Amino acid sequence: MATPHTSPSTSSTGWDLGIRLGHWSMATLFLLNYWWLEEGEDLHEWAGYALFAILVIRFIRGFIGPENARFRDFFPTPKRLLNNLNNFKAEQLSHQENSHHSAIGGLMVLFLLITMTITAVSGWMQELDAFWGEDWVQNLHAWSADAVMIAVVIHVSAVLIIQYRYKVSLVKRMLSNR
Ligand code: HEM
Ligand code: HEM
Repeated sequence: MATPHTSPSTSSTGWDLGIRLGHWSMATLFLLNYWWLEEGEDLHEWAGYALFAILVIRFIRGFIGPENARFRDFFPTPKRLLNNLNNFKAEQLSHQENSHHSAIGGLMVLFLLITMTITAVSGWMQELDAFWGEDWVQNLHAWSADAVMIAVVIHVSAVLIIQYRYKVSLVKRMLSNR
């Protein structure tokens, strides 16, 4: 019988400070660069480098950080995805998805982290002599940024649906540890 996937550490109800700070800094820097800062100008580049630095820290914490930051805690294996789907059907989310990303949430988390990394690296590559004026690098930068933006719309919609339809207080947990 399939048992619902539970986190090895559910002592706290929110994500740890590192995840929360990282989350809101990544969200702010991404939106700034996508919508407001002049493309290719100094501020755009520095915001991109800052986002990249946060991503590097997030990847390190994914391997050697606290339990609920580790990729192995929420890596979307087929078994976990199936359990997560069953939890949705059984409306048991609030009991199961505590203080760690769910498997389906984990898919989105990994997609966002990877596509933001591709955006930051391709932005930097545009500045290098070796790739100067290369169409594919410019396209990669523009397309990966668009992919992140589309994923963010889905991400925020999913968070709000889970919050209001399934009554799991995800937004509060991303704001505070209590
Ligand atoms: C990681 C966050 C970043 C985001 C979300 C972002 C987003 C964007 C977007 C949406 C464009 C317009 C693309 C187009 O439609 O052609 C753009 C252009 C550009 N970005 Fe970024 N970018 C980021 C990081 C960087 C970095 C780190 C650099 C360089 C160090 C950089 C350098 C540039 C340059 C040179 C352009 C082209 C400007 C032009 O063609 O006039 N970006 N960026
Ligand atoms: C540009 C905007 C955003 C970006 C780039 C973004 C990106 C991310 C990333 C990378 C994660 C994984 C966090 C980690 O493990 O380090 C995440 C998780 C999360 N985000 Fe966002 N986010 C954005 C906006 C928002 C907004 C506006 C909300 C609230 C309405 C939100 C709520 C959450 C929640 C609750 C989680 C945990 C989801 C889960 O485990 O299923 N995010 N987001």
